[in-house]
Amino acid sequence: MPATSLDTIVSLCKRRGFVFPSSSVYGGLGSTWDYGPLGVELKNNVKRAWWRSVVHERDDMEGLDAAILMNRLVWKYSGHEATFSDPMTDCRACKTRPRADHVFAAQKGRDPKGLPEINAAIEAKELVCPKCGSKDLTPARPFNLMFRTSVGPVDSGDDSGLVYMRPETAQGIFVNFGNVLDTMRRKLPFGIAQVGKAFRNEITPGNFTFRTREFEQMEIEYFVRPGEDEAAHEAWIAERTNWYLKLGMRKENLRVREQEKHELAHYAKRCVDLEYRFPMGWSELEGIANRTDFDLKAHSRSPENPDAVGELKYFDQEQKKHLVPYVIEPSAGADRATLAFLCDAYEDALVKEPPAEETTKLRDLVESFAKSVGRREGMAAEVKQRLVSTAEGIAAGLPGTLPQLIGLMEDAEAATIEVMKKVRGVGEKIAEEHTRTVLHLHPRLAPLTVAVFPLKRNDPRLVEMARGLKRDLQRSGVRAVYDDTGAIGKLYRRQDEIGTPWCVTVDFQSLDDQTVTVRDRDSMQQERLKVTELAPTLASRLT
Ligand code: GAP
Repeated sequence: MPATSLDTIVSLCKRRGFVFPSSSVYGGLGSTWDYGPLGVELKNNVKRAWWRSVVHERDDMEGLDAAILMNRLVWKYSGHEATFSDPMTDCRACKTRPRADHVFAAQKGRDPKGLPEINAAIEAKELVCPKCGSKDLTPARPFNLMFRTSVGPVDSGDDSGLVYMRPETAQGIFVNFGNVLDTMRRKLPFGIAQVGKAFRNEITPGNFTFRTREFEQMEIEYFVRPGEDEAAHEAWIAERTNWYLKLGMRKENLRVREQEKHELAHYAKRCVDLEYRFPMGWSELEGIANRTDFDLKAHSRSPENPDAVGELKYFDQEQKKHLVPYVIEPSAGADRATLAFLCDAYEDALVKEPPAEETTKLRDLVESFAKSVGRREGMAAEVKQRLVSTAEGIAAGLPGTLPQLIGLMEDAEAATIEVMKKVRGVGEKIAEEHTRTVLHLHPRLAPLTVAVFPLKRNDPRLVEMARGLKRDLQRSGVRAVYDDTGAIGKLYRRQDEIGTPWCVTVDFQSLDDQTVTVRDRDSMQQERLKVTELAPTLASRLT
């Protein structure tokens, strides 16, 4: 069964060291996350696969790594100072500040066409506060999403040292257009790719790493002659869709959505979103926009921009004239792509039925947990409702719902109910023996490529050979680990859960004929390979 709730993924990520809540020793900082040992490997692999596909495997691309802090004028002339904002309304009754466009969309069943339409609806008392239901809402006002900081040793109190934490990596590319063009002697069409952090003071972050205030983008600005932009846009839509599919994302979970006119950013002539079917519904994974010549012109000296030192333009040898290129921008989120690959790869299943009396005992405990939650005072109503309905659903479906029970047993709020200790006491053992959780990650994305085990950890010859094999694999560039902390079945299960595509076992036969068993994560088939063939065989399966 694929992941049906984000909680399942959050719980796996925390349990197995993919992602932790940030600054947790001080109670955390809302919606900020730290990538743990396996998460950093996975995300690095996503970024590496992107770079390989859009820079190394093409002849028309260059890379860049621009500074996060830039001259404030970049954001003035890009239009972000004036327009990079969300409309907010204040509820005079309960003093909350919801996003006015979200309130409008939820209550009218469609997106608003702009601020005037939102304010007309507020004025006509057609919208209510989502928290308390009051119609006493203030007119919506724009709230700028850029984080401000200042450069220099003294904060002078005015805006003289003001800089922004970049809200997109794109502007670093635009202002370097001339540098890359001159140094790399490029001809149109060509593109510049960059991976890096971006920051937005999002009003409603959430859904785990889907929307955060600090995140990483993987952006391309692809420069073309005006008139060639529409064909290039189509080509990039196909190219980027295929990238996700080639890395194993399921076709039915990926779709292309044309943005409507009123959704378009101030710089875009057209934008197509690649959307993924996350557990919370279809949501944007990547935007592919036609930014026309907006940005290069905006950063060129002109009557509207007396601050720029020159013009960002291109001399076309064929036409013997200067032109300002149009730009196609495939803009992906590294965190969102990582989350989507995780959700897509997740599968849990019941592998064998537990004895009926164990199921009955567990069902009784889960039912008594649901009743305890119902009686619990001081717990937020929505948390209560979620826990009760999850527990009732699990109790009704046991043993088939054992995989979901694993998620409930990991839930921090569920852990505050006393009877959960008893549920875990019985449930963890049954789940471990009867379920299998697997991440079917593409081998190139998996945090670890191979895990090597000795059949018996108390036989020094097996241990020595297994450790040596792991070292040899590591030296040949394969990401390998050694483990002997459990029986082979348990070790397989642990590696399946983090998506390791292959497990290698050194047994007694290995000592005689220098062969080992290689077990495939997805098919669970085992094959015998010569030790000398191992590294080249695995390397060939990684491409
Ligand atoms: N330069 C264009 C641009 O920044 P965007 O649609 O605002 O366009 C591009 O962002 C991608 O960056 C999104 O498709 C998403 O993957 C990622 N992204 C944007 N805001 C994000 C956030 N708050 N948290 C995580 N990822 C985000």
